Amino acid sequence: MAVSRRVAELRREGVEVFDLGAGEPDFPSPETAVRAAKRALDEGRTKYTVLEGTPELRAGLAARYGKEGAPWSAANVLVTVGAKAALYELAKAFLSPGDEVVVPTPAWVSIPAQVRLAGAAVVTVPMAAADGFAIRAQPLIDAMSQRTRAVVVNSPCNPTGAVAGVLDLERVARACAERGALLISDETYERFIYDGQRHASVASLAARYPETVVLVGSFSKTYAMTGWRLGYLLGAPSVIAAAAAVQSHVTSNATSFAMAGAEAVLEQEPPEAAALVAACARRRALVLAELDRIPGVVCPPPAGAFYAFPDVSAWFDERCPDSAAFCRRLLDEAGVATTPGSAFGCEGHIRLSYACSDRMLTTGLERMAELLGARRRRAG
Ligand SMILES: Cc1ncc(COP(=O)(O)O)c(C=O)c1O
Repeated sequence: MAVSRRVAELRREGVEVFDLGAGEPDFPSPETAVRAAKRALDEGRTKYTVLEGTPELRAGLAARYGKEGAPWSAANVLVTVGAKAALYELAKAFLSPGDEVVVPTPAWVSIPAQVRLAGAAVVTVPMAAADGFAIRAQPLIDAMSQRTRAVVVNSPCNPTGAVAGVLDLERVARACAERGALLISDETYERFIYDGQRHASVASLAARYPETVVLVGSFSKTYAMTGWRLGYLLGAPSVIAAAAAVQSHVTSNATSFAMAGAEAVLEQEPPEAAALVAACARRRALVLAELDRIPGVVCPPPAGAFYAFPDVSAWFDERCPDSAAFCRRLLDEAGVATTPGSAFGCEGHIRLSYACSDRMLTTGLERMAELLGARRRRAG
């Protein structure tokens, strides 16, 4: 928030800012989605829909995850106002004071915040930087107690790009089922995965652990549809009913004509989605090459999402003692906006988004390299 405020201030002063802070694809939304939403408006699909989402969209999502082995039908789907609302509704529906939720860190900022908003306690479990922050089962299982109501895994992870392998996911799913806790899997970045790796989805575990496995997803990143505010959750009918009960008092249904756009992209996979992933793969290579040239910056290749999460602690000193100060310095002295690792519960690192335009990325990285002396190193 502080970085965003400063970006806005600098822009008001006429300073050109290269924003590698926002987690938002620069691509426009797919033609198919836009056309379908416009048609829906023209046809008068502007009324409340069924609370849980249109039957077409729910069926489309069930079919989508059915391909990965989930025994889910439309009745197992709740369409929400973004994945953010899906996670929040789960928190409000299932958590009470005294409950604990196990969260591997670094973690996306809203996950612990929502648990706390629901009055429960967050048990953070740091994943190892030396292991590329890969999401491992054992430390998560070790952190579970009688009070554990849920484990929330986000793979590929914002901010680290780390992923959970299918065996680790399976072990966490089993541990959760044994204790009657939910495994909530935020798969918002499911498509953004590189170097030939495969995304492990809890959809493949739903048949074995039908009562406790919950999948949360989004149209925001996959289809560059952030402003449409469309997400979803899939799980047992009891989970859907509990989250829908919360939704009925908070947002009601997701926007009717936005759902028409989402139905269209599920029906007919738009080519823009694959093009976005390809662009991110190319930009990822560019970011890694550029960061590699900067002295004192260490960034193991992230397996997925569209963020780099380098360790910049070698640059800390009295004047610039932490990641927040480092981000401020980057912004004030180089005009480059990034996000401090401390926001994600991991000091020493910063997060750069490479879902931005090529020009933003290339110039932003050049300026960062200049500020941190990479040019000098190359020359010398
Ligand atoms: C890990 C993660 N989950 C969920 C979301 C929220 O997505 P939505 O736009 O669908 O609310 C984000 C957005 O940045 C995210 O990074």
